[in-house]
Amino acid sequence: MGYSRPLLFFILPIILGLHAPGIADDDDNGVCTLTADYCWSCSGTNETFNNGSIYERNLDTVLSSFSSNKTEINSGFYNSSLGQGPEKVNAMALCRGDVPLNDCHTCFNESISILRQNCTNKKQAIIWAQRCTVHYSNVSIFGVAEDDPVKFVPGPTNTSNAEEFKLVLNPLLETLSEKAAAGDSTTKFAAGHALVPANQTIYAIVQCTPDLDLQNCSDCLKDAISDIPKCCEGKKGGRVLRPSCNLRFESNLFYDAASDSLVNLPGKQGNNTSNITTKVSPSSFLGLLLSLCLSSAFAFS
Ligand SMILES: *[C@@H]1O[C@H](CO)[C@@H](O)[C@H](O)[C@H]1NC(C)=O
Ligand SMILES: *[C@@H]1O[C@H](CO)[C@@H](O)[C@H](O)[C@H]1NC(C)=O
Ligand SMILES: *[C@@H]1O[C@H](CO)[C@@H](O)[C@H](O)[C@H]1NC(C)=O
Ligand SMILES: *[C@@H]1O[C@H](CO)[C@@H](O)[C@H](O)[C@H]1NC(C)=O
Ligand SMILES: *[C@@H]1O[C@H](CO)[C@@H](O)[C@H](O)[C@H]1NC(C)=O
Ligand SMILES: *[C@@H]1O[C@H](CO)[C@@H](O)[C@H](O)[C@H]1NC(C)=O
Ligand SMILES: *[C@@H]1O[C@H](CO)[C@@H](O)[C@H](O)[C@H]1NC(C)=O
Ligand SMILES: *[C@@H]1O[C@H](CO)[C@@H](O)[C@H](O)[C@H]1NC(C)=O
Ligand SMILES: *[C@@H]1O[C@H](CO)[C@@H](O)[C@H](O)[C@H]1NC(C)=O
Ligand SMILES: *[C@@H]1O[C@H](CO)[C@@H](O)[C@H](O)[C@H]1NC(C)=O
Ligand SMILES: *[C@@H]1O[C@H](CO)[C@@H](O)[C@H](O)[C@H]1NC(C)=O
Ligand SMILES: *[C@@H]1O[C@H](CO)[C@@H](O)[C@H](O)[C@H]1NC(C)=O
Repeated sequence: MGYSRPLLFFILPIILGLHAPGIADDDDNGVCTLTADYCWSCSGTNETFNNGSIYERNLDTVLSSFSSNKTEINSGFYNSSLGQGPEKVNAMALCRGDVPLNDCHTCFNESISILRQNCTNKKQAIIWAQRCTVHYSNVSIFGVAEDDPVKFVPGPTNTSNAEEFKLVLNPLLETLSEKAAAGDSTTKFAAGHALVPANQTIYAIVQCTPDLDLQNCSDCLKDAISDIPKCCEGKKGGRVLRPSCNLRFESNLFYDAASDSLVNLPGKQGNNTSNITTKVSPSSFLGLLLSLCLSSAFAFS
């Protein structure tokens, strides 16, 4: 007689030790630390390199340039390729748009050590930290909108008024997305807040890797917004993390106040305390864009 299949399914994960300790969850799309300060993914591929290989050497060289303070600070985005053919490493590192450039290397450094420890010998890996993202692959990743992996990080708290909340959250994110997509080849980031009736504020950021063109950035963020019901339905906060773009919203100011501004949404007509009486049409935001301030708010030297 064969093995009992249900029994095997129950026992196999235990034998294989698949329940890694110290992580909040575990699925194909990635894992996070308990506090979700870092989320990463390297499980979507079987492609590995050997210790001492040229690939490993190239990877270490590229990654250490990202975390070195000697690397020139010009924007929060770094990309680099090293090597030939199968040994070629492609990597990029992106700081959140409001983070002072002087802090980027530190975020890269911490993120890279977590990746190298938890994605041992994987040719492809990505980590989303609170303040930066690092991604490497043997496949070219520049200028390409990637759909995999996607990691959802819902916040812990429910909203008390999910419907009203959604009526503000979606247009807020759509407005910010248009602004971010219109950014230049060094920065595609937007941040801002909007007010929900019943005395609530939503703070949000959206960001694309700036190697994407306007259309790919816009499409990526559109997909991220459409993931919100799956990710964070009814939550006061959450993050949708993709390789090429990400979004985050919270009920508190979680980014640099210098990057903050009130985003006026259609139907509210600038009266921030007014009740929402107009149904919001997602297609009516383009006109608003022109009135948005496009300054990228890097106010330091
Ligand atoms: C990884 O390997 C496993 C078993 O060897 C296989 O079932 C799976 O499809 C592979 N995944 C990829 C992405 O190649
Ligand atoms: C590479 O070395 C690390 C320890 O530094 C070890 O955990 C890992 O299994 C080794 N990988 C291979 C493919 O030998
Ligand atoms: C991170 O920085 C420390 C020094 O502060 C350095 O020793 C280490 O090699 C760096 N890690 C990476 C991955 O670059
Ligand atoms: C880089 O500089 C920051 C401060 O600007 C410092 O905290 C950090 O330790 C430095 N990192 C390295 C690897 O020297
Ligand atoms: C980095 O990205 C830019 C586009 O933003 C591209 O032109 C450049 O070739 C990339 N760098 C490398 C080393 O591939
Ligand atoms: C990731 O690496 C850290 C540090 O080595 C370790 O504590 C943690 O258990 C690792 N997590 C996973 C899922 O392997
Ligand atoms: C990436 O590495 C895997 C495994 O070594 C290989 O099958 C694949 O062709 C590589 N892709 C590229 C673009 O080199
Ligand atoms: C948009 O992304 C796709 C892949 O996702 C890529 O083939 C295309 O070239 C990109 N568009 C531009 C204009 O770069
Ligand atoms: C939050 O909402 C979900 C479903 O919308 C519900 O299952 C859960 O119990 C709620 N949590 C709290 C703390 O109210
Ligand atoms: C908004 O207006 C509706 C009726 O138009 C009312 O039922 C609701 O209580 C009002 N909400 C607030 C927060 O004033
Ligand atoms: C709105 O909320 C803030 C802080 O949560 C509180 O200080 C203020 O009194 C509230 N205002 C009203 C009208 O409820
Ligand atoms: C905005 O709405 C509030 C409450 O409905 C009202 O008291 C206030 O006068 C309005 N402000 C403007 C500029 O219309």
